[in-house]
Amino acid sequence: MEKVDFNQVLNNYNEVLPKGVFLTTKNNGEINTMTMGWGTAGFIWNQNILMAPVRKSRHTHKLIENSKYFTVSVPLNGQLKKELQFCGTKSGRDYNKIEELNLELAEVEESEVPIIKGNDLHFICKIKYQQDMLKENLDQDVLEKMYPDKDMHTFYYGEVAAVYRE
Ligand SMILES: Cc1cc2nc3c(=O)[nH]c(=O)nc-3n(C[C@H](O)[C@H](O)[C@H](O)COP(=O)(O)O)c2cc1C
Repeated sequence: MEKVDFNQVLNNYNEVLPKGVFLTTKNNGEINTMTMGWGTAGFIWNQNILMAPVRKSRHTHKLIENSKYFTVSVPLNGQLKKELQFCGTKSGRDYNKIEELNLELAEVEESEVPIIKGNDLHFICKIKYQQDMLKENLDQDVLEKMYPDKDMHTFYYGEVAAVYRE
């Protein structure tokens, strides 16, 4: 693995994000990953930032709530489709997805949360800010289309402590 510059891979990230990437969390020794297809990547507080939107109903939400870190592992070449499908439909409440799919983890020096090998890019993120969405601040069309059950997202803003290319 080599370290790469965030801005060098920003376009790659934004291009594949809608197809799904792995958002990995760890809390009290429990490691879980879910598929994430939304988010933003940019610059604020003089830091490179990835924002991960996690609905309150996700097991990931419970794990990330009291964490300092998350990692995002990104397949750029269409690999791990079956795994993205599974991690995007099954909950860590019901499955140990890492074991079920034989996902290979690797430790990184910047965070206690590992990355998932077999992906092309890995973002190590340190949470700097989190924000619950407020229904009353949201456009009515988006609210009706995207939140019929009012299962709102919390936005987790992580400073990108390192980006690795595998
Ligand atoms: C392509 C794709 C993208 C997704 N993007 C998100 C997302 O950005 N935020 C979110 O909360 N859930 C998203 N999901 C749904 C979660 O991945 C799914 O509910 C998962 O089972 C949650 O796992 P968990 O309960 O272990 O956290 C997405 C699912 C798919 C298939």
